[in-house]
Amino acid sequence: MIAQASRSDSLPEAPLVLGIESSCDEMAAAVLRSGRTIVSSAIHGQAGVHAPYGGVVPELASRDHVRAVSHVVEAALHEAGLAPADLDGLAVTAGPGLVGSLLVGLSFAKAFAYANGLPFVGVHHLMGHLVAAEVAGGEDLAPPYVGLVVSGGHTALYRVGEEALPLQLGETRDDAAGEAFDKVAKLLGLAYPGGPAISKLAQQGDPRAVDLPRPMSKRAGLDFSYSGLKTAVSVEITRRGGLESLDESERADLAASFEAAVAESLVARAVRAMRQESAKRIAVVGGVAANGRLRSEMHRAGAREGFEAIFPPMELCTDNAVMIAAAGTRLLERGVRDDLSLEAFSRVPIGEAPWRASESAAPGSLG
Ligand code: KG4
Ligand code: ZN
Repeated sequence: MIAQASRSDSLPEAPLVLGIESSCDEMAAAVLRSGRTIVSSAIHGQAGVHAPYGGVVPELASRDHVRAVSHVVEAALHEAGLAPADLDGLAVTAGPGLVGSLLVGLSFAKAFAYANGLPFVGVHHLMGHLVAAEVAGGEDLAPPYVGLVVSGGHTALYRVGEEALPLQLGETRDDAAGEAFDKVAKLLGLAYPGGPAISKLAQQGDPRAVDLPRPMSKRAGLDFSYSGLKTAVSVEITRRGGLESLDESERADLAASFEAAVAESLVARAVRAMRQESAKRIAVVGGVAANGRLRSEMHRAGAREGFEAIFPPMELCTDNAVMIAAAGTRLLERGVRDDLSLEAFSRVPIGEAPWRASESAAPGSLG
C-alpha cells in the first residue's frame, strides 16, 4: 500500500470538497462548500454514445469516461475559480455501479488526491442520493430524517442520523419499484423508461378499476417486494386475451391501478418507518420520486401523520457529483478517510462497506 501524504487530518471550517461521480454513464465533478453550498457542478453525459444500442454499453461507458474525466474535473475547478491547492478534500463514488466506469473515476481521484495531498474518501452511490436531499433542503433538512430511495435499481428506506453512515431500515426483496414500472410498461406495450409512460397513460385510467395486490401489506417490517405485483398485471393481461385484445381504456385502467398499488405500498412502508423512527421529515430520492401520484399521496400521508415529505429537484435526483461531494464532506468531517488501496466494488450495502472495516466508523457502530 502506498502511503498518502495528507495535508491535514481535520477539515477546516466551511471546507471545499471536490466530488467525482462515474458509476454509470455520467462523468461528473462538483465543488461544494460546507457540504451544502454548490460552488460548481459539471456533468458530461453519454446519451449519444448508447442511443443506438437501446441501453448503456459498459465498455463504451468506461472508454468515454477515460476521455472525459480530466476535462470534467478541470471544468468544475474552472467554474469554481479554484486551483487544486484550494481544495480541502476529495470524495469519489466507490460503488455500486459498472466496475469499469467506477474504476475510471476512482483511479483519477486517487492520483489527484495523492498529487495534491488531499484527504480522500470513497462514497457509496446511494448515500450520495440520500444526502442530495440535504443540499436541496438547506437548513430545513438536517439529520435525523428518514430517506426513501426509489430508483430503477433500488428501493430502500434509511435512517440518516448524526453518525457517519445512514442505517438501512428495509429494502426490496426482489425488483426495485422503478424496475417494476419499466417491466409493466413493456407488458402494456409502452416504451422505456416505463415510469413516465405509465404515469401519462394512468391519467386517463381509473386506479380502482383493476384489483391488484398491495405488496407486503400483511408483512411486518420495512422490506418491499414488486415482482408479485408485476406478475399480477401480467396474469390480468393474459386473462383478458393478451395485449392485442386490450383497448385504450383497459390499458389506461391497468396503468392507473398498477401506479396506485406501487404508490400505496411505498407510502404505507414510509409511514411505518416514520412511526418507528419517530421522524418528522422524509426525503424521497431517485427517479421514481418524479411520480406525481407518489408525491401527492406522500404529502397527504405527511399531513395526516404530522411529517414533512421533501422531494429534491430532479437535477439533484439524477446522477451528479454534488451529491457525492455532500456525502463525502459528511464522512470527512467525521474523520472517515480512505487510502490508495480503496477498490471499486460493484455492490456494497451502505452500512457494511468493507473498505471501512478498520475505520472508526466500522460496521456495527455505524448507526
Ligand atoms: O434514479 P434513476 O433516474 O436511475 C437509476 O435507476 O439509476 O431512476 C430511473 C427509474 C426508471 O425505472 C424509471 O422508469 C423511473 O425511475 N421513473 C419513474 C418516473 N420517472 C422515472 N417511475 C414512475 N413515475 C415516474 N414519473
Ligand atoms: Zn444513481
